[in-house]
Formats: sequence, structure tokens, C-alpha cells
Amino acid sequence: MKTATTYIHAGATPDPSTGAIMTPIFQTSTYVQEAPGVNKGFEYARSQNPTRQALETALAAIELGKFGLAFSSGVAATDAVIKLLSPGDEVIAPHDMYGGTYRLFTKVFAKFGIVFTYVDTASIANIETAITPKTRLIWIETPTNPLMNITDIAATATIAKKAGALLCVDNTFASPYLQNPLTLGADIVMHSATKYLGGHSDVIQGCLVMNDQSLRDQLYFIQKSCGAVPGPMDCFLVLRGIKTLHLRMQRHCENGEKIAHFLRNHSSVSKVFWCGFSDHPNYAIAKQQMKGFGGMMSFELKNDSPENVKRVLSSTHLFSLAESLGGVESLINHPASMTHASIPREERLKNGLTDSLIRLSVGVEDADDLIDDLNTAIG
Ligand SMILES: Cc1ncc(COP(=O)(O)O)c(C=O)c1O
Repeated sequence: MKTATTYIHAGATPDPSTGAIMTPIFQTSTYVQEAPGVNKGFEYARSQNPTRQALETALAAIELGKFGLAFSSGVAATDAVIKLLSPGDEVIAPHDMYGGTYRLFTKVFAKFGIVFTYVDTASIANIETAITPKTRLIWIETPTNPLMNITDIAATATIAKKAGALLCVDNTFASPYLQNPLTLGADIVMHSATKYLGGHSDVIQGCLVMNDQSLRDQLYFIQKSCGAVPGPMDCFLVLRGIKTLHLRMQRHCENGEKIAHFLRNHSSVSKVFWCGFSDHPNYAIAKQQMKGFGGMMSFELKNDSPENVKRVLSSTHLFSLAESLGGVESLINHPASMTHASIPREERLKNGLTDSLIRLSVGVEDADDLIDDLNTAIG
């Protein structure tokens, strides 16, 4: 099946009892059993729910994997992956990534004895150097949030295999439409489904997709034992979002390209971070592993005084000042004080995330209107 057909039909079978074409929202906590242990495959909704099951089938299909697992948020999905580990195990992670992932690693799991080493994963040599006999997991995010750095997934997968470590890729920024890490050798793909998969800024959800049955069983065990499962209404919303993912991503890519070039040519803008520029340091890898460059980008102003940055952030009308990304509507964000505030300032600055960086999630509105909005705000 081709992509568009998969996105529309994956996981969707008309409801056998009514013929409803859309998967029903099975708002139930439990299921009647005919006799103890005799049931229709559903016992208790933390363990199984038909709406979630349909979504998990769809997630596996769109990520070109065998198994999908849905969680109550992106960080809950990340949390489940780290719970595969034991005290003393080591994880290599990017020095530039979503602030909430950094917070989970440093503030929650480090105290349980999991050791995290942060490197610039855009350079494969840095990952290789950081490997030790205790490395159990390599975690990458590509493109990174918010600096749009790219890591070579296939090369990292080769290193991970050699080291006997798992590779998990946070594929939130690319979405399955632009990049499928499992086909490049990754063991697990993670998404904040809150973003492009949901696509309409109306749900918090996360997911994992994998090929290996025993890895799926371990992660399913964690999912049901720790209980961070999404409700059926949220599963329905993400299922619906997936049906238009390909159409939305095409427009996100078109608009993203136009806005990245507009910003780069703007006399008041000093730097634009977007992985579709041919002079981006990892453009060749991005082009090889991604089908397009998406709608995420960051930029800096020539006048990077806090007052000017604040003025621009508060002056757009179509770009709403808000956390999150990947919805149909455009958002503008100040990572240093919003999405990445949990990373200590010195760490942020060391890794290139300045106080003046502005991040955009370019939506699917008319690109001319979005450019006018930014132009007026930047001045
Ligand atoms: C790249 C990335 N990964 C993970 C997350 C966490 O997802 P959630 O907010 O759904 O828990 C986010 C949230 O912004 C993100 O941008």
C-alpha cells in the first residue's frame, strides 16, 4: 500500500456490531467476561482498549514497524523506554534536545542510578567516543528541538548494534511522513503524538513503535504496569489526525521552505536554523534520511536585545505565542523561557541555545499571510 492509502486505512475496520466507519470511542474501564478468564481479548482498559488497539495498529503501519504502543504523553513514552534499563546502565543522549526529555533524564532517572552522557550526536565520532561497556541505550532526536541539528540514523544504528545497545529515535519533529527510523536500523521510534500525529493541538499523547517482539512485550509490560495509557477519546483524535498527516506534512514542508528563505533574506535576521538549507552542516544526511524538511525552524535577530526579542514574540497575530508544535495553526515560541527552561542556562548556552532564539512551528495557513505576519512583527 502507498503512504496516503496506509494513512487513511491503517487500523480502521468498520465496527462489526454497527458498521460505523470510524473506530468507536470505547469509553469503558472493564469488559464483561463469560466465565473467569473467558473473554473477548479485553479484560481491563489499562491493559487493552479497542480504540487504543486500532490506533496502535495504525501507528505501527505508518512508522513501517510491526508493533505500536500508545502512551498518555510523549514523555510517558520516553519514560517507558528508560524503564527498560537498570541502575548502572548508561545512556548516550544529544546535548541539544527537547527540554522535557532532558528534565526527565537528569531530574528523575539520574537519581535511580541511570547514567546519562550528553554529546553532540550530529557527529558520529562523538557517539562512538562516548560508548562504554555499560552503554545500553543511544537516544537521539533528529531534527533536534529547537536547533534543527541532524543525526545520521543509519550510522548511529550500526554503532549501537556493535555496542549491544538499543537505538531509540525521537521522530517527533520529522513525523513518520518525512522519516522512518526503523527502516534505517533503529530499534524503537518515539513520538510526541501531541504534535504532527494529532495535528490539531487538541490532545496530549505519545507512542513507541518497534519491530522486535520481545522488546514489544517488555514495553507493553511497562505500559500496563506503570499505567501511563491514553484515554479512548485521545486515541480517536490521534487516529483521525493520522488520516490527514500526509496532506498536512506536504503543506508544512511547502510553507516551511518559503518561510525559512524569507527569514534568511530578511535584513533584521542574523541566523536561521532549518535543515533544508543546502549549507546546513548535515544537509546531505537530512536529504538522505528525510523526505522533506518540515515546518520547524528557529532564528535569531540581529538586534538580539531581550526587549526586541520580546517585542517580536508578542507582535505576531497569526503565529500564536505558545508552547508545542505540529498543529495546523502556526506557533511562535521562546525556547529559553518556555519549552527549554528546564535546561540550566550555562548548558543551553554551551550547546548554542541562546536567550534570544525564537522557534517557529509553521502551520498550514497561506504562506503569504504568514510571511506578512512575521514581516510586520520583525519590522
Ligand atoms: C521533540 C519532543 N519530544 C518529546 C516531547 C514530549 O512530548 P509530550 O509533550 O507529548 O509529553 C516534545 C514536546 O514538546 C518534543 O518536542
